[in-house]
Amino acid sequence: MRSFLFVLSSTRVDGNSERLARLAARGLAPEITQTWLRLTDHPLEPFADTRHSTGYATPTHNAKLLCDATLAATDLVLMTPVYWYSLPWTLALYLDHWSAWMRDKELGFLKAMEGRALHAIVVDSDDDAAGSSLPVIDTLRRTADYMKMTWPGALVGHGNRPGDVEQDTTAIAAATTYFT
Ligand SMILES: Cc1cc2nc3c(=O)[nH]c(=O)nc-3n(C[C@H](O)[C@H](O)[C@H](O)COP(=O)(O)O)c2cc1C
Repeated sequence: MRSFLFVLSSTRVDGNSERLARLAARGLAPEITQTWLRLTDHPLEPFADTRHSTGYATPTHNAKLLCDATLAATDLVLMTPVYWYSLPWTLALYLDHWSAWMRDKELGFLKAMEGRALHAIVVDSDDDAAGSSLPVIDTLRRTADYMKMTWPGALVGHGNRPGDVEQDTTAIAAATTYFT
């Protein structure tokens, strides 16, 4: 049975990426488990690259919560606003921590993630022609590729103030079939 983990990376509640994701999630069959986690509710420690010195401790506290939830999901849905043509710090930090989790032999993180799906719901405040989401989409597509995860493609919306994305009729239509 598939289980979806929705990872909210916006630094505001009920923003555009969250609203677009909630619309998309309505398309999921009721028997599919959904877990929603907001990264700002589970702050991670700053990440340090200790790969070639001390290595990494087994994740504890919020890192354990996020790692366990990630490992439990067949489908990972990363919801992200575009910040400076890039990932917001919340999502970059979560992915940096993957670098530690991947190196914990007991977790088997790399092997476990192989073949699972990485979905991306991306919102910027430009239009399609500006292509402001493209660096973020490329980052996440490459991440899926590196992790040997499947990449169903990104759902992209546009909007600035919370709720604006609900006027993006193309995004709303795409959301209804994104998971089908
Ligand atoms: C720090 C910051 C940087 C941003 N940078 C961009 C950007 O580079 N390109 C863009 O189109 N929108 C940018 N935006 C606008 C957000 O992507 C937009 O408001 C989006 O709807 C926010 O999604 P959310 O409501 O899910 O947080 C930025 C917003 C913030 C707060």
